[in-house]
Amino acid sequence: MKTDIVAILRKGGDNFVSGQTICDQLQVSRTAVWKHINQLKDDGYIIESIPKKGYRITVYPDRITEYEISPWLNTVELGRNLVHRHTVDSTNILAKGLAREGCPDGTVVTAEHQTSGRGRSGRRWTSIQEGAVQMSIVLRPHVSPAKAPSITQIGAASIALALESLGVSPRIKWPNDVLISGKKVCGILTEMSCELDHIHFIVMGIGINVNVRSFPEEISSVATSLALEGQDNLNRARLAADVLNRMEPLYRSFLQGDSEPFLSVCRRLSWLRDKSISFSRNGEPLSGVAGDIDDQGRLEVIFPDGTRDYLLSGEVHI
Ligand code: BTN
Repeated sequence: MKTDIVAILRKGGDNFVSGQTICDQLQVSRTAVWKHINQLKDDGYIIESIPKKGYRITVYPDRITEYEISPWLNTVELGRNLVHRHTVDSTNILAKGLAREGCPDGTVVTAEHQTSGRGRSGRRWTSIQEGAVQMSIVLRPHVSPAKAPSITQIGAASIALALESLGVSPRIKWPNDVLISGKKVCGILTEMSCELDHIHFIVMGIGINVNVRSFPEEISSVATSLALEGQDNLNRARLAADVLNRMEPLYRSFLQGDSEPFLSVCRRLSWLRDKSISFSRNGEPLSGVAGDIDDQGRLEVIFPDGTRDYLLSGEVHI
């Protein structure tokens, strides 16, 4: 209901929309409209109301709520069920709980602030309040668990395409970091609940540093944000929607057996290509030169003796 009211008032722009018009369109009482308008004010909207004229929104809050994201969405499934919390321990944890309870496929959980944001390999993800897009997407792909690493790459490709459209030059550090000027602007944590041959659900958690202007000292040399890269005061809700809009066709192609749409983006924007890299295999430290990304999304590594290996997932250092 609140989403509908925001949509009606947004459409009205600078004009007042009468309470009666809202009641007629939504088939609800005046009291219900008034109650929801007050709740929207609590959510940070500044709404002018003049007797006999009606309501208009003068200030939209900088929030990644359903009301702010949905006007920009053109997806069929992704983000159509959107759960927003101002503060949460981790959007991935909340999304996994919702997935276990049977939430719709494509449910998205967003938060302004995470108290225990999680990164890969058990690391923490530093959450800068209201400066980032922090969202987790619940997916239930009918593919073998062995193909799950592709989901992360679909995420990275979608984010990179959304950032490119803003005019920055993102690169993808295989498999799941998005960098600008060699520094990390976005991380992805993909978690899965599965059996040997069946995926129950996947939660893809995305953290994009948007309007963050400084980082804690321990990460300031390796992290960046869109604001620091010249994109000041971006609308986070619009960016979140754009990522989902770009993700849906890549995800659908993947489900239909065509990985080329996302792999071509990962190859074109590959940060590691031709760089010396190190990684560990079964605890053994190895190094080589990164080659291309193959048609299964694996990273080719060329060792000093000329032999090759193909990494399916994992962490790679340069
Ligand atoms: C990494 O680079 O290590 C992955 C970082 C992933 C961070 C995001 S923010 C939204 C979602 N919720 C979390 O707790 N983590 C992911």
